[in-house]
Amino acid sequence: MNVTMFSTKPYDQRHLDSFNQGLHHFNYVTARLTSQTAALADGSDAVCCFVNDQLDAACLELLAEINIKYIVMRCAGYNNVDLQSCAALKLTVVRVPDYSPYAVAEHAVALIMDLNRNIHRAYARVRDNYYLLDGLLGFDMHNKTVGVIGTGKIGLCFIKIMLGFGCQVIAYDIAENAEVKALGVDYQPLEQVLAQADIVSLHCPLTKGTYHLVDTQAIDKMKRGVMIINTSRGGLVDTTAVIAGLKTGKIGYLGLDVYEEETELFFEDFSNTVLQDDTFARLLTFPNVVVTGHQAFFTREALDAISKVTLNNLTALENDDLKSAQIVKLS
Ligand code: NAI
Repeated sequence: MNVTMFSTKPYDQRHLDSFNQGLHHFNYVTARLTSQTAALADGSDAVCCFVNDQLDAACLELLAEINIKYIVMRCAGYNNVDLQSCAALKLTVVRVPDYSPYAVAEHAVALIMDLNRNIHRAYARVRDNYYLLDGLLGFDMHNKTVGVIGTGKIGLCFIKIMLGFGCQVIAYDIAENAEVKALGVDYQPLEQVLAQADIVSLHCPLTKGTYHLVDTQAIDKMKRGVMIINTSRGGLVDTTAVIAGLKTGKIGYLGLDVYEEETELFFEDFSNTVLQDDTFARLLTFPNVVVTGHQAFFTREALDAISKVTLNNLTALENDDLKSAQIVKLS
């Protein structure tokens, strides 16, 4: 199959080529897919996209006009794909549902431990020959209450690690997971989870129902000094509301791997330019905020799995073997 791969980096190309072995023909482009760049896919059967490609109605119509048949997401989330338009244009959408839940869960834990023990500040201090401990005081994870919002594949991995630390885990999800219950985790209404948790970690998808799940009202319900971790999608957190919460001390720590306005920012090198996003700039001024640039998925194992499943999806689509493809339901 001829595939135009959007938003590709050298590591994507290396991993995909090593598994492809010439089976499919890949046209690698570094550009993000938007309605402005859709024409780059002319001559392909499929486009292969990532988290910040913009598959809105206008873009999808242009893709259909140049006879693209398949939207192949090389990620788990598909909140950036207008599924209604895909259905209307008869575009089949596939994705990689679970390439490595460990990668994302472990990154959430990395953010927690970095914030808790002030590793980001300690690193800079020691390099500056400065060894005072003031300002670096942490807390034992043991016996802390961790609230998990979204208990699917990543939430489950995350819960297991938290239980290993000796934390009390409580959870909220619109659908309870039997494996999570079997671990002794108590499902509670969202408000109660927010009210009791010392650490709130988000592991649900971005949907209309979860947009700004962490807003001013939600923050009001939380404990003073709470730690909030978001490794899911930026839109789950109202950035203006968390900045206000950080300024009053209501939020004690914030760890983000995703940011609601990340599309124009993440995965690119802007180190020689002036940051234009004032909200993001404000976030970066807090000593108790750590932001990583959507790297939770970025492990060797995850990239291997993404490549394997993507190639399997392409081969299945080419052979009209829809049962073997990871199809996203369009309604
Ligand atoms: P999953 O589909 O296995 O689990 C999602 C869980 O969220 C399900 O149990 C579902 O019932 C629950 N959920 C849905 N709506 C909810 C709501 N309104 N309130 C509470 N819970 C709700 O998905 P998985 O694999 O665990 O991934 C979770 C999210 O992690 C993805 O949607 C994606 O946005 C994000 N992700 C981030 C990555 C990164 O690099 N930062 C990489 C991969 C995924």
